Amino acid sequence: MPEACRIGLLGHGTVGGAFARLLHERADAVALTTGRRPELAGVLRRGSGDFDAILADSEIVVELIGGLDPARDYVSRALSAGRHVVTANKQLLAEHGQELAAVAREHRVQLRFEAAVGGVVPVIRVLQESLAAAHVERLHGIVNGTTNFILTRMAERGASYGDALAEAQALGYAEADPTDDVTGKDAAAKMAILARLAFDTPVRLDEVRYEGIEHLTADDMQYARELGLGLKLIGTAERVDGGLSVRVHPAFLYGAHPLASIHGPFNAVTIESEAITEVTLSGPGAGGPQTASAVLGDVVTAMRAAPGGAPTGPPPRPLPIVADVESAFYLHVDVADRPGVLAQLAQILGLQGISVKSFVQRGMGADARLTMVLHPVLESKVGVAVDLIAGLDVVRARPRAIRVIDEEF
Ligand SMILES: NC(=O)c1ccc[n+]([C@@H]2O[C@H](COP(=O)([O-])OP(=O)(O)OC[C@H]3O[C@@H](n4cnc5c(N)ncnc54)[C@H](OP(=O)(O)O)[C@@H]3O)[C@@H](O)[C@H]2O)c1
Repeated sequence: MPEACRIGLLGHGTVGGAFARLLHERADAVALTTGRRPELAGVLRRGSGDFDAILADSEIVVELIGGLDPARDYVSRALSAGRHVVTANKQLLAEHGQELAAVAREHRVQLRFEAAVGGVVPVIRVLQESLAAAHVERLHGIVNGTTNFILTRMAERGASYGDALAEAQALGYAEADPTDDVTGKDAAAKMAILARLAFDTPVRLDEVRYEGIEHLTADDMQYARELGLGLKLIGTAERVDGGLSVRVHPAFLYGAHPLASIHGPFNAVTIESEAITEVTLSGPGAGGPQTASAVLGDVVTAMRAAPGGAPTGPPPRPLPIVADVESAFYLHVDVADRPGVLAQLAQILGLQGISVKSFVQRGMGADARLTMVLHPVLESKVGVAVDLIAGLDVVRARPRAIRVIDEEF
């Protein structure tokens, strides 16, 4: 009989319950590859279990409670007690990842969190291990399956945002309160985690600028379809002028971009660097069994780690965070079809130093819509131009400005 490896499980909900089942099913297979058989030392729930007793009896602690409190305290105490910790808690890592990584380093134990970003997609492991020496230039990610499902439905079926959201909720891809997903906040937390790993830079959540998908319309989708583009919620982390920019926003992607073909609730991350050119990883973004599988993968890795082994990562060499970056934009303006409208728009754009790459007018009279693609320009300048254009009395609704990724557009 192989020696046992005792696992303390904190949380037994969607992921925790699936993890407990998977651990039971796969224990023999794990024993074959690691030489030790994992078994549950105890389970903590709101009304049952005792953290101190579970900690005392386990070698590895798996945190699947979620949120900041009490997860932060439990994870910190487990690391300080010399236990490897595996968690799927993106909120905890986005807010306190740096501090917890330091505790793990100090106590020479592993803090593993593959399931916190990208579901089953092994992006954390690839950044920490396979590409540890790659000097990453840029990451683009579809890291929220809910919004990707909604945008896919809008693109494929011409559904409105509201109808696509309702379908996502009915199918269990969106929560009853979808705010964190649709506003981009969830994706921002995940990008903060990825950016910290890829660029050795602590990124606070409030340093990630994010926009959601709530304002996107069937018109935007129609425009994307006509030009063979994808419209996705994209997280970006990239080196800019010696600093680091991390942001989340809807963006048009040219059809051949690796992320343009990621549909439904899937996640994907594209990693770019001079050494590797480009690597794209994709797979299911969430779900109890899928997330539990990523958690068990981390547990197996932790089981293989020698006790008191190598620290989990280098101390950070932080880059300064850059708030304002250049981007190409698509701009959509609903206007009254009156003489002089174009001149007014041109004057506002010109004053911000914005130049127009292409321009189309659709509809006539009260239905006139202008769509244009802007050459790359600082985002702040587009923001000012949108505010000024929105204030014109010939403009019928606030203009929509959507980023465009790639020059091929
Ligand atoms: N669901 C997904 O598809 C998914 C995907 C990726 C990552 N994650 C992450 O995985 C983690 C768990 O998510 P989940 O969906 O499994 O959550 P969940 O279904 O709400 O389960 C949470 C579990 O934690 C327990 N718990 C809550 N507060 C506690 C407290 N104060 N003390 C002790 N136990 C407490 C709950 O106890 P009771 O059983 O007594 O209620 C429950 O068993 C989160 O960090 C989430 O972000 C989830």
